[in-house]
Amino acid sequence: MERTFIAIKPDGVQRGLVGDIVRRFETKGFILVGMKFMQVSRELAESHYAVHKDRPFFAGLVDFITASPVVAMVWEGDGVVTTARKMIGATNPLAAELGTIRGDYGANIGRNLIHGSDAIETAEQEIALWFTPDELITWQPTIMPWVYE
Ligand code: RTP
Ligand code: MG
Repeated sequence: MERTFIAIKPDGVQRGLVGDIVRRFETKGFILVGMKFMQVSRELAESHYAVHKDRPFFAGLVDFITASPVVAMVWEGDGVVTTARKMIGATNPLAAELGTIRGDYGANIGRNLIHGSDAIETAEQEIALWFTPDELITWQPTIMPWVYE
């Protein structure tokens, strides 16, 4: 089944939003297959955001993501990549719809609380970058038949 990489950024952790953010993905019906609380190295941050390396905000972004711990996660479910991005909301929290994570909790583009992979291929690359295979657990919640037909 489809998987995506989600990270609660340092601002989300510092502000005590881990529980709320995890709850949203759980209650939606997505399945948690990996989770770790970690300090991000500069090397990992620069690899993760390599696509933005020539942008003016790159250095600040790497400083921010390495400044304090994050919660890295892999979630699974039909259409999880696209739906997680909808649940997260627009990059700029001021433009994000209310009801989305960034729309409800964010007030600044440089403090937008959470990362979500933007495509299935990106998700596969990011999962491989952040997790080793033995850190991911393929399992079936017993409630599965009541969430997926
Ligand atoms: P993310 O990768 O973190 O899930 O966010 P995203 O896809 O919505 O946005 P993206 O374009 O990939 O940008 C990555 C992160 O860079 C920071 N950013 N700052 N100051 C700026 O203009 C600016 N633009 C982007 C944000 O933290 C954004 O999430
Ligand atoms: Mg992105």
